[in-house]
Amino acid sequence: MNRIDYFATTARGLEEILAGELQALGVVEVRPVPGGVHFRGDRTDGYRACLWLRTANRVLQPVATFACASADQLYEGVRNCPWEGFLTPGMTLALDASVRDSALTHSRFAALKGKDAIVDRLRDLRGWRPDIDPAAPDLPVNLHIHKNRCTVSLDLAGDGLHRRGYRLERTVAPLRETLAAGLLLLSGWDGTTPFVDPMCGSGTLPIEAALIATRTAPGLGRGFAFQKWPGFDAGGWQALRDEAHRLRRPAAAPIIGADRDPRALAAARDNAARQPAAGGIRWERSDFARFEPPAGPGTLLCNPPYGERLKDDGALELLYRSIGDTLKQRWTGWTAWLLTGNLEAAKRIGLKATRRVPLWNGPLECRLLKYELY
Ligand SMILES: C[S@@+](CC[C@H](N)C(=O)[O-])C[C@H]1O[C@@H](n2cnc3c(N)ncnc32)[C@H](O)[C@@H]1O
Repeated sequence: MNRIDYFATTARGLEEILAGELQALGVVEVRPVPGGVHFRGDRTDGYRACLWLRTANRVLQPVATFACASADQLYEGVRNCPWEGFLTPGMTLALDASVRDSALTHSRFAALKGKDAIVDRLRDLRGWRPDIDPAAPDLPVNLHIHKNRCTVSLDLAGDGLHRRGYRLERTVAPLRETLAAGLLLLSGWDGTTPFVDPMCGSGTLPIEAALIATRTAPGLGRGFAFQKWPGFDAGGWQALRDEAHRLRRPAAAPIIGADRDPRALAAARDNAARQPAAGGIRWERSDFARFEPPAGPGTLLCNPPYGERLKDDGALELLYRSIGDTLKQRWTGWTAWLLTGNLEAAKRIGLKATRRVPLWNGPLECRLLKYELY
């Protein structure tokens, strides 16, 4: 079998969860490193990873690594890759680059240089030039330059894997879908007991919970760049999708999203309407202090506001104090998980966290705090 090296990227703090997802997919040679997980497999494993991984942001297929201390080295290294095997006439191209601790310092410049190298090679070798389509390229290429070494990768998905196809509405601070799924997997919730997000905002956590509970592949509702690539195995891809449809099952326990803000709930309902697996979610408009939990045991998971604006007038500390009071009074028998970027405010909860998991919500360092409410 033709083995391919892959690298799936994820939010810092979720590498072990992503490695676990890959192992559950039956992939071997899984190796987590900061920011992602290396794995090896055949072409179908790459497709399967895009279809099934809940916590990966991208699935990359590295095609070359070389020393890159100058623009010329970058150009030569990229030009030496066999692009005529990856691009056929009519296909569009786009490059994105990240640059860190290197002589080259501008990612836009690196991406432009890399693009020139690809276009020049195809023009000289084959006599045609690919068009550039930054929005939806058939072949998205990623350049990762770190300590003067460049890794050139094909990006199997194109659009980030967090784009499941259900979210259009944007409320103030939605969680990234891949992070929301990571929190759920970290909590160990398996869909057999009730799940509540009492501050659900645009509904990301309940919707991702519904995807897990119904064993729905998160990528079923979207397309991927690799479908446009030469040698795409349409039959193998269809078989994977058929299998994913067969594996779906009804949710076994209630999934509830609540929020006090009617606009947030409207966005959540709207998002859920675009995801068939989310049809069974119960949405409720309620303040957390008045929300009536279903009979436990169950899992409560939410990310309360931790914004700067609230901090000024002490409102944030009051909010966290009241969350603590409500958990103590109403949620006996439940396990509660809170993601917060404000550890000072979180002290006001007044309960002892039995786990504290460091995670990054974008650039913001957070903690996922676990409370067992006996
Ligand atoms: C950071 S947002 C949650 C974002 C959400 N996880 C998402 O992905 O869209 C916090 C939410 O808590 C809600 N909220 C704040 N205080 C609340 C309270 N006391 N009861 C219920 N909801 C509250 C806000 O309306 C807001 O929608």
